[in-house]
Amino acid sequence: MIDKQLPSTRTAELDSICLKAEVLPVITIERLEDAVPVARALVDGGLQVLEITLRTACALDAVARIREALPGASIGVGTVLTPAQYRQAEQAGADFVVTPGATEALYRYGIESPVPMLPGVASVSEVMTGWQYGYRRFKFFPAEASGGVATLKAFSAPLAEARFCPTGGINVDNAGDYLALDNVMCVGGTWLTPKALIDAEDWDGIRELARQAADRFHH
Ligand code: 3PG
Repeated sequence: MIDKQLPSTRTAELDSICLKAEVLPVITIERLEDAVPVARALVDGGLQVLEITLRTACALDAVARIREALPGASIGVGTVLTPAQYRQAEQAGADFVVTPGATEALYRYGIESPVPMLPGVASVSEVMTGWQYGYRRFKFFPAEASGGVATLKAFSAPLAEARFCPTGGINVDNAGDYLALDNVMCVGGTWLTPKALIDAEDWDGIRELARQAADRFHH
């Protein structure tokens, strides 16, 4: 039974975060010391909304460091699979939480949490589950493998109020096709932080990728 719903102010909070940048870099930090330089390069390049994935042991420390060094950035914690990880993200100072898919437990926890969640969905039924809890903003993942632009276009008829951040297989060449859709708020992806550039500590290279994306896809 669904006894509690997400307040609509939560949807507005996510909108104000997503409106800050059309491209959301998805970042995996392997070495803690890379966290601030990578984030600074992206912010200097014009992308101030970042998602740090919980895929490495140092991810939460990375979030805390970026939070302190770059107070103007909006920091999301991604790859959140459980309410316990959601809580850890809150404690690390996350502005928002992103999940690859969604569970009833996450939907329920997201209603209680002070930090908004962008739950992952890949089908109409999954959106409808979130909808019952009051969620109207979702990550569409894995975007390309789930039918991409055509699927999102089809979502817009029955799910008129829902808006998405597609992620998974998005790059500089196809991002514009997604951003042209009315139900797309922003797009996410790892293409702005290639492992080779991070390993080479090529912060200028990352800043340039961010700048290109910011120039090409601005609101
Ligand atoms: C994510 O978690 O959002 C994805 O790993 C990003 O997908 P991409 O690597 O295809 O951009």
